[in-house]
This record gives sequence, C-alpha cells and structure tokens, in this order.
Amino acid sequence: MGSDAIEKRASSTTVSLDKQRYRVLIGTGLLKQIGTHARKRFARKTCAIISDNNVAPLFARRLEKSLVAAGFRPTLITIPADEKSKTLEQVGRICDGMIAAGLDRQSFVIGLGGGVIGDISGFVAAIYHRGIPHVQIPTTLLAMVDSSIGGKTGVNMRDGKNLIGAIHHPLLVIDDVDALRTLSRREFNQGFAEIIKHAVIADAKMFRTLQSWKAGDPPSLGSGVAGAPALQRLIKRNIQIKSRIVAKDERDQIGQRALLNFGHTVGHAIERAGGYRKFLHGEALSLGIVAACAISIKRLDCRRINEIQLSIFSGDSSYPQGCRGISCARRSSRQ
Ligand SMILES: NC(=O)c1ccc[n+]([C@@H]2O[C@H](COP(=O)([O-])OP(=O)(O)OC[C@H]3O[C@@H](n4cnc5c(N)ncnc54)[C@H](O)[C@@H]3O)[C@@H](O)[C@H]2O)c1
Repeated sequence: MGSDAIEKRASSTTVSLDKQRYRVLIGTGLLKQIGTHARKRFARKTCAIISDNNVAPLFARRLEKSLVAAGFRPTLITIPADEKSKTLEQVGRICDGMIAAGLDRQSFVIGLGGGVIGDISGFVAAIYHRGIPHVQIPTTLLAMVDSSIGGKTGVNMRDGKNLIGAIHHPLLVIDDVDALRTLSRREFNQGFAEIIKHAVIADAKMFRTLQSWKAGDPPSLGSGVAGAPALQRLIKRNIQIKSRIVAKDERDQIGQRALLNFGHTVGHAIERAGGYRKFLHGEALSLGIVAACAISIKRLDCRRINEIQLSIFSGDSSYPQGCRGISCARRSSRQ
C-alpha cells in the first residue's frame, strides 16, 4: 500500500508555526508503518530510537522492524523509565551512544515513550550536531495530547524541573492509540487532567462532552463511549487546542502560552510537596485545576466557568478525576 493511502487511514492534523509546519498522525496500527512515513521525509538512513526500559520491550521491536524494512539502520538507546532520567548525565550517555553508532548531522532521532522520553530525546535532537530532526512517538495519553506538541524539550536540574532545554519542534508526530492499551489505569487517567485543562481554557463543548465519558479503561479501548475512534477524535481536538495556543506564542514570551499553565501553580506546589512521588503530574494538576476554579468562582465570579455548566457534574466516581474535582470546587465555593 502506498504511503498516501496509509496516511489517509489515519486522521491527521497540522501544527502550523511561524517558520515551520509539521503533521501529527493519529490512528491505530501506526507503529508498523513508521518506516513508510520516515522514507517520505528522510534521505539519510541512520537514526536513533530513544526509549525507556518499560516502553522499549513493548514497542521498539515493531518500530525497528518497520524502519529496517524501509531501508533504515536504527540504533536503539534505552534509558531507565521515570522522571529521574531527565538529566544532563543521561543526555551525555545518549549522545555518546549516537556517536559510537556513527550518527551524523543528517541522521534523525525518534523518541518512543511518554513525556520524559519526548523531552529528553527532543533535547538530544536539538543539540546533536547543533540540531537534527526529531520524530515523536508518544506512548502515554499525556504525551499525545500535550508534551509532544509545542517543541519544548529539556531536562531537570537539582534546583528544579525543565531548567535546561531548547525549543525544537518535531518534524513528525505519530500517535498510535494502540500503544495506550498497555498503559496503567493511573497513567491513563492522569493524561485526562490535561484534556480537562484544555476543555476549561478553550472548549466548553468538549467539557460538556466529557461528562458522558467514564474514566479510561486502557485494556478495552475499542469498546464503549471511550472506544478508539472517540479517543482518537478527542486526542486530535486536544492537539489542535494546544497547537493553536503555541502558534500564538511559540517561545512563551507574550503570555498566550501561559494559558496552558492553568492549574499548574497550585499543581506544581502539590507535586513538589509530595516529593514528585506521591502524586503523578496529572493528579497534582487535577487538584491545581480544582483550586484555580474554586478561587475563580469565589473571587472573580468567573463567567466562563459558569458557562460550562459545572452543575451537570454529579461527583460520580466514574467521571475523570478533574471533572469530579471541579464539581467539588463548585460545591465548596457555595459554602
Ligand atoms: N514538553 C512539554 O511541553 C511537556 C508538557 C507536559 C509534560 N511534560 C513532561 O512530561 C513528563 C511526564 O510525561 P508522562 O506522564 O508521559 O510520564 P513518563 O514519560 O514518565 O511515562 C510514565 C510511565 O509510563 C510508562 N509508559 C509510557 N508509555 C507506556 C505504555 N504505552 N505502556 C506502558 N507503560 C508506558 C513509562 O515507562 C513511565 O514509567 C514530565 O517530565 C513533564 O515535565 C512536558
């Protein structure tokens, strides 16, 4: 099958920036088709696949096979899973591995994993030979709807998160929703915090739609309201929301992009207070969104929050966490 036919089977959206445009493909079975997509875009045959030790055993083989079949020579570099790997030391290790494998300035980097892998592989791509192309293959919901879009890459320092980094947009993003089947329920749900955030800041209709969704059930993505096609549409909509905001303020300098930090002030404080262990980012963000809504409702009589009819959220435990929380925020603001 030709690559154009393959692309038609996936839905896609384009991120349009000042000087760059890139496509995001969203669909099922896309991992097996990476080689075809790469062949359309890259002349050089060498590339690095950067992944973590949870994700690589699940998906790297499929990816390597597809790349090799398309004539590429991939080098797999695996780092330990988790936020603690987002360091300059790991960046150095990855770059050493790429140099040893003979990758040069015409090679490219594929990040296969969640937001940690997206951030570190993007940073490596930004600095290797002063910058080589980056392909993102996000495998968590959070990474699909948020971190793979917008070009922010980087690592943490002892004194804080993401203190060193670069804006380096990917050339292509491939969201294979099949990858979400192996994600734990907790990780899947934390991705929903970013979706709820996008709904609150940019799409009242989407917020209302979310009320009919039960909390995600990764092993059965194909069934129920939250089945794969519905999930694909939701992911696409979220990418469009984020990319439109990013396009207005690519380098995060005129305040537009700060909208995406909604709920993050309190969320980060909660994350930090928990030593980055007690709460996942999305969980802390859910609480941060609740706090921001409660403050807005109480202090600012925030019309937008009233518009999205928070009363329809009953507090039923099967709703995504943020929705439940916002409902609570509304109740407590009445007290
Ligand atoms: N660049 C940005 O704009 C941006 C935005 C938001 C968050 N982030 C960053 O994203 C990171 C958080 O990302 P995350 O929540 O994806 O965490 P993560 O990358 O640590 O992934 C979470 C866990 O899930 C595992 N995993 C990933 N995909 C899997 C799959 N399909 N099946 C089974 N296990 C899987 C990982 O190995 C890891 O243990 C943070 O470092 C944060 O700073 C960046």
